[in-house]
Amino acid sequence: MTNTAITLHQTARPDGFPTPDLFAFAEGPVPEPAPGSAVVENLLLSVDPYHRELMEEGGWDLGAPLEGRALGRVIASRDPALAEGDLVFHRYGWRTHSVVTLGTDGTRRIPTYEGVPLAAHLSILGGTGLTAYVALTRTLRLQPGEDLFISAAAGGVGTAAGRIARLLGAGRIVGSTGSAAKVKALTEDLGFDAAFNYRDGPVGELLAQAAPDGIDAYVDNVGGDHLSGALSVLREHGRIAWVGAVAQYNDPANPPAAPHNLYDIVHKSLRLEGVLVRNYRDVQGELEEFLVPHLQSGRISPDVTVAHGFERTVDAFLGMLRGENTGKILVEL
Ligand SMILES: NC(=O)c1ccc[n+]([C@@H]2O[C@H](COP(=O)([O-])OP(=O)(O)OC[C@H]3O[C@@H](n4cnc5c(N)ncnc54)[C@H](OP(=O)(O)O)[C@@H]3O)[C@@H](O)[C@H]2O)c1
Repeated sequence: MTNTAITLHQTARPDGFPTPDLFAFAEGPVPEPAPGSAVVENLLLSVDPYHRELMEEGGWDLGAPLEGRALGRVIASRDPALAEGDLVFHRYGWRTHSVVTLGTDGTRRIPTYEGVPLAAHLSILGGTGLTAYVALTRTLRLQPGEDLFISAAAGGVGTAAGRIARLLGAGRIVGSTGSAAKVKALTEDLGFDAAFNYRDGPVGELLAQAAPDGIDAYVDNVGGDHLSGALSVLREHGRIAWVGAVAQYNDPANPPAAPHNLYDIVHKSLRLEGVLVRNYRDVQGELEEFLVPHLQSGRISPDVTVAHGFERTVDAFLGMLRGENTGKILVEL
């Protein structure tokens, strides 16, 4: 067992798209658990779009260990409820070792489901899948046969939304993404009926071609011209679950203008509602009950891109912002 723990720090604020030199590794001894806590060796880390927002003033402190969702194995414990070898979900990632306390900041023991890989707990069974699940079942209240559009469809939330919508009996599912290879993956591997590359032309036109008969519901991961395009093709009484606005995270000073056709919400009696996964923690058990049998039967599997090695964490994060991932991006230590 190593005696050295490594943490990642942010050293300066970004100006536009972030660069690797804004991060630095720091070494120290493996921490000791205080009474009531345990030390875990991290196995999997999640890097997420919201981390880009945390890089701005008011987000992460400079020169301090960063936060992020992670799965770790207990290597030392001073909590009788946590034994060595237990698997724990926590939010003190971006480091090789973390001190965790059950019940604090969402720290919980991970249930083991036979045949379900660990990566599922940081993707479709984690916050990513929960976001997709509540967007579909609580915000959109998707009904069997309804047609759906999902933006950033080849990413973590997007792929999970596509899988879950299919299980819920969705009608036609259309996705947008940023490359021809990912368009192919969406229609050939990820269960989408149609997909387009938003870089190929005006998003509104591409979406109108991909969904010529309109859509009933939209999971918006992107905002900007995607939201505007969806407002145009939504049918009367259509619904939008606004989950994220990844198109604007790298240029927070210049967010895209509000959609020119926002008033379609009135004309077509649409409903637009924001989704914040942290308001739905109580749905976690329902998500697992719904998905675990499908994961165990092989009907679905977690869609993940895995970067190997803690030293690849920053590359994985920046690659995700550039769209290099298919499914949820994770770092395996
Ligand atoms: N509200 C909540 O509680 C909550 C929780 C989790 C996630 N989210 C949001 O959900 C969205 C997806 O998150 P995720 O974790 O699943 O990440 P992800 O989709 O796996 O990764 C981000 C993806 O965004 C796409 N992208 C990057 N820049 C873009 C741009 N300018 N225009 C369009 N697409 C762009 C890239 O794919 P392409 O190759 O397709 O461009 C990239 O793969 C984000 O907006 C995130 O903030 C919200």
